[in-house]
Amino acid sequence: MNDFSELLRRIRLLHERPEGALPLHAPVFQGREREYVLDAVDSSFVSSVGAYVNRLEDMLQDICGVRRAVVCVNGTAALHAALFLAGVRPGDLVVTQAFSFVATANAIRHAGADPVFLDVDAETLGLSPQAVRDFLVRECGRVEGACLHKASGRRVAACVPMHTFGFPCRVQELCELCAAWGIPVVEDAAEALGSRIAGRHCGSFGLLGILSFNGNKIVTTGGGGAILTDSEALGELAKHLTTTAKRPHPWEYRHDAVAWNYRMPNLNAALGCAQLERLDEFVARKRALADRYAALFADTPWEFLREPEGSAGNYWLCSVLLRGTEERDAFLEAGNAAGVMLRPAWELLADLPMYENCPRDGLGVSRGIAARLVNLPSGVRA
Ligand SMILES: Cc1ncc(COP(=O)(O)O)c(C=O)c1O
Repeated sequence: MNDFSELLRRIRLLHERPEGALPLHAPVFQGREREYVLDAVDSSFVSSVGAYVNRLEDMLQDICGVRRAVVCVNGTAALHAALFLAGVRPGDLVVTQAFSFVATANAIRHAGADPVFLDVDAETLGLSPQAVRDFLVRECGRVEGACLHKASGRRVAACVPMHTFGFPCRVQELCELCAAWGIPVVEDAAEALGSRIAGRHCGSFGLLGILSFNGNKIVTTGGGGAILTDSEALGELAKHLTTTAKRPHPWEYRHDAVAWNYRMPNLNAALGCAQLERLDEFVARKRALADRYAALFADTPWEFLREPEGSAGNYWLCSVLLRGTEERDAFLEAGNAAGVMLRPAWELLADLPMYENCPRDGLGVSRGIAARLVNLPSGVRA
């Protein structure tokens, strides 16, 4: 397939955008966004304290089915703090997938640890339980409750699976496996707000999970993220450590730990409350778009990726697998030249210069997918 013009025309039709730029994803503000943001301005509480911060956390707890949600300045900061809360310390190793956005590995490094890059499952695009099992059995041992990497003597302190493009990964299997090895699971659910496995929300399976509300996500706060946990104690500590560890007092400045200023400002939370009110509608619209894409690509030799069985994804970014890299590159060229924004998968994190010395497995599935995948325009129509 070399002439992509008919296919690109049909992609435009799906989005009812016959001409002009068709973005990969753009936020939609049709609800109470202006009203809430102006209300936050009028209240003078625009920074890290305010009614919308509490309201957004309550809404997230409700939607995600967790006891505590703590909103942060962005998803990377949320993941950094979550790793610390899970016990990751300088010198540790953290098992994760090479097929992810760079923030996953950056947060691990910010915590002073090194990522161990393992392969993903072809069906979920998320961390493969088999790859983790193989790594643990082959290269690790349990010593006094901790999991140690035999060759380096370093502790494997956490496992960070990612729910890629909103497809739920096999997180329950990973949690069971990691529990047997004494490794806490921190879910990177940055892309998966609204995605569920048998009704249970992604990010709620591990000891902790995180979300992102960046402008390109299904719901945005401008910039923002959240830490999710079912542990009241960890939730309380998350709130404390992301708010400069200030002891509650009406006027005194007393801080009892080295901490971060990672709290989400009220102004951003106001936007988020209005956006979250429309989450169900956004998910429904994106799932309907995925159905239309599936019908369109059924007529091609390419594979439109559907969510893993037993799960309901948010289809944050719809994706199609082409037959090879050359064909993928030709499609990317043609689409972007015609104003239809298409994007390749990320370069594998294990190949980035700052991570090239980190341990990894063969990454065969990750490489195969990364060489052939294209993300399609996936925005919720205004
Ligand atoms: C997988 C993944 N992890 C972490 C992040 C970090 O989120 P943020 O951009 O809000 O820092 C993102 C998104 O941007 C992401 O896609």
